[in-house]
Formats: sequence, C-alpha cells, structure tokens
Amino acid sequence: MKAGPILRIEALRKDFRANNGTPVEAVAEVTFDIPENDFVCIVGPSGCGKSTLLRMIAGLETATAGRIDYRGETISRPHREIGMVFQEYSLLPWRHVLDNVSLGPEFLGAPRAEREAKAMEYLRLVGMEDFSRAFPHELSGGMRQRVAIVRALANDPDVLLMDEPFGALDAHTRILLQKELLRIWENHRKTILFVTHGVDEAIYLADRIMVMSARPGRILDVIDVDMERPRLRAHTSYGPLAERILTILEQEAAAAFRDTAAAKHEQE
Ligand SMILES: Nc1ncnc2c1ncn2[C@@H]1O[C@H](COP(=O)(O)OP(=O)(O)OP(=O)(O)O)[C@@H](O)[C@H]1O
Ligand SMILES: [Mg+2]
Repeated sequence: MKAGPILRIEALRKDFRANNGTPVEAVAEVTFDIPENDFVCIVGPSGCGKSTLLRMIAGLETATAGRIDYRGETISRPHREIGMVFQEYSLLPWRHVLDNVSLGPEFLGAPRAEREAKAMEYLRLVGMEDFSRAFPHELSGGMRQRVAIVRALANDPDVLLMDEPFGALDAHTRILLQKELLRIWENHRKTILFVTHGVDEAIYLADRIMVMSARPGRILDVIDVDMERPRLRAHTSYGPLAERILTILEQEAAAAFRDTAAAKHEQE
C-alpha cells in the first residue's frame, strides 16, 4: 500500500485585519498534498500570501478556515518534525554560531556535549565548522543563511519549510547554496516546501512547482519538473518551463495592479 502524503492542506484560508480595521484576505482557499521526500517550490507575486501559508503550516499563524494534516493527523500548533527557515535572517545576535545551531536541541533538554557535537556535524555539512565561535554580525549574508539552514536541520525535522532562504544573497552564493541544499535533501531524505521569487531557482530545485495567484493567494498551476538532477540551466526544457511560469506571474501582476488602481479610484 502506498503511504499517504506527509502533508495535506485542505481549503486553508487566512484573513487578517489591517490596523485601520479593514479585512485583508491573504490566502483564499488553498488545497494541496505533499508526498514524502518531495521538493516542492512555491512561486507567486509579492504579497500573495506565501509567507502566511508557510507560517500556518509551521503553526505560527492560526488559519481562518481549513485544515493541515501532518502524517494523517490534524495539527494547529508548531510540530517538532516541521522546521522553518525564515525569509529574513533570524539568528540570535548574542549567541555564537554553535549556540545558534544547537538552540532547538537545547530547548529539548539535550546535554551540552551531545548537542554541540551534532551542531558541529551540521556546520561541517555547509563548510562552516571554522566559524562555530563567531557571532552573527561577524558573518557574511551567505554564511548567516547557511547557519540558519543548519539550525533548522539540527532539530532533524522531516519537513523543512523554507521562506525565500536565498533571496538576499548574491547570484554566486545562491547557486552554491542551492547545490548544498539539494545534497542535504538527497542525503537526509527531507520533504521540502520552498518559497522563492526565482523562477530559475524553482526549476533548478523542485520536483513540483506550485504557482500562486495575486492576493488572496490561490494555487493557479502545479507543474511537474521532469528533469534529471543535477540540472543544467542549458537544458532544453528550462526555457519553456520558465516561460510558462513567467506568463502566469505577469498576468497576475497585471491583475493586481489593475485591482490596486481601481481601489484607489474608488477612494478618490
Ligand atoms: N500580521 C499581519 N497583519 C495584517 N496583514 C498581514 C499580516 N501578515 C501578512 N499580512 C498581509 O497578508 C498579505 C500576504 O502577506 P505575505 O507576507 O504572506 O505575502 P508573501 O507572498 O510572502 O509576499 P512576499 O513575496 O513579498 O514575501 C499581505 O497583503 C500582507 O500585508
Ligand atoms: Mg513572504
């Protein structure tokens, strides 16, 4: 018998209330399954609810409606086996690298020697072992992001939620970290849900790409990326896939622009 999906998202919705009291529909009604060990990328226009969706799955935001099932069980709060790497660097500035990485195991009461040994193992994985005693302000952006990734890995989550983890990096570092992430994913068999603005990045990484609409976010298209890894950006499928996704994103951006203009006109 084939096992069910590791994550099942059903009719998930999120409404916020802005400071002036007006309701903001952030995520419309989203339904999808993630099979175990899949690498899924989410792309969508800015403000369409991608971070909100991830934060709901991480249990950091309550859903207005809908359901999140993890291995067949409905969850509504942070789950030990679901880890998150945030959109902005989120290291604790007063802790050095090793203590940042061993934060999760420390909360769980792991003995110091054990958690530090594990943290060092993960730091080695991303070539950061020589910086274990450095503080976040002493690191470059790419190094900080590596630490943030291994900090999530140190909790040994089955599912890794990643919110534009490479967004702020230069192109060269981004490509290096994409490779590293694929290596980690292949060796440690994680399930990854990865938000990105980079269509190229999504095609390089994902088994499947979900394209979201402008706010309120819905899933407009789900694209299987049927290319062997390591993927070459010169592959003949690359261009047409990118074109398909960019066309949808452009239409969505135009629709969002028209909505904003219409709302402004109404106010005047
Ligand atoms: N705590 C909050 N209170 C009110 N509105 C919020 C809150 N968090 C997010 N929103 C609104 O919800 C919508 C979706 O935000 P979200 O951060 O999920 O977008 P996003 O797709 O991640 O955007 P980006 O690509 O720019 O990161 C936006 O309109 C945002 O203003
Ligand atoms: Mg976001």
